[in-house]
Amino acid sequence: MNIVIKNKEQIEGIRKSSKLAGEVLVYIEDFVKEGVSTYYLDQLIHNYIIGHKAIPATMNYNGFPKSCCISLNDVICHGIPAEDVILKNGDILNIDITTILNGYFGDTSKMFIVGQTTETALKLVNATKHCLNLGIQQVRPGNYLGNIGYAISRYAIAQGFTVVYEYCGHGVGIEFHEEPQVDHAARKNSGLKMKPGMIFTIEPMINEGKPRVRVDESDGWTARTVDNKLSAQFEHTILVTETGYEVLTDVVSEYEIS
Ligand code: MF3
Ligand code: CO
Ligand code: CO
Repeated sequence: MNIVIKNKEQIEGIRKSSKLAGEVLVYIEDFVKEGVSTYYLDQLIHNYIIGHKAIPATMNYNGFPKSCCISLNDVICHGIPAEDVILKNGDILNIDITTILNGYFGDTSKMFIVGQTTETALKLVNATKHCLNLGIQQVRPGNYLGNIGYAISRYAIAQGFTVVYEYCGHGVGIEFHEEPQVDHAARKNSGLKMKPGMIFTIEPMINEGKPRVRVDESDGWTARTVDNKLSAQFEHTILVTETGYEVLTDVVSEYEIS
């Protein structure tokens, strides 16, 4: 296993890229409304990232054709922005941004709600956000990586939801996807121990129904729930500090550095 412990210079670079990725999500909020296409949102995001001297990491990544992922309703992740995907009242969607700034990667995503949605959808979105928070609270040197997934899955299941286990969080910073893999469902005190200087994402995907994923054959990317029930996701890039964590993609100061 090759887990890069980032040095000061790398951490500073990844911090800047992560901040930009977080700022993209703040920027796009005002444009997420009924009637707009996900293609239009992608164009705005593309221009914003390029305008800040960065590169959208998803563009051409293993053939992915757009500058972000936008995943609506039953799409778990890797939704491709398209002109014929028009936001409508009640939709829930995840926008996932990965930036490359001066060669460093930052990766973050959050849910948006179009107009008024159902009680169930709201409960799912709020529970998924809480799952990410619970995962983050487990980040500190010496704690087991598995305790992140343990905390997430325990809560998700207690809420009556399921945890997607076919996609995971990941080391990030020097490359898009590095080791270690961060499972969102795991046993207590399993896996490796976290060390200062590790940087990885936590990005739980939580489903209303069955946990399994089916990728659309038409594009080879769009990952949907097998029962077409709803799925939600939130993601942050997190640095393990000497005493706890720093949420590098948190630009709204929701998390204090611990
Ligand atoms: N940003 C996603 C993640 O959180 C990965 C998207 S890869 C793509 O890991 F190719 F689908 F864009
Ligand atoms: Co990620
Ligand atoms: Co992402």
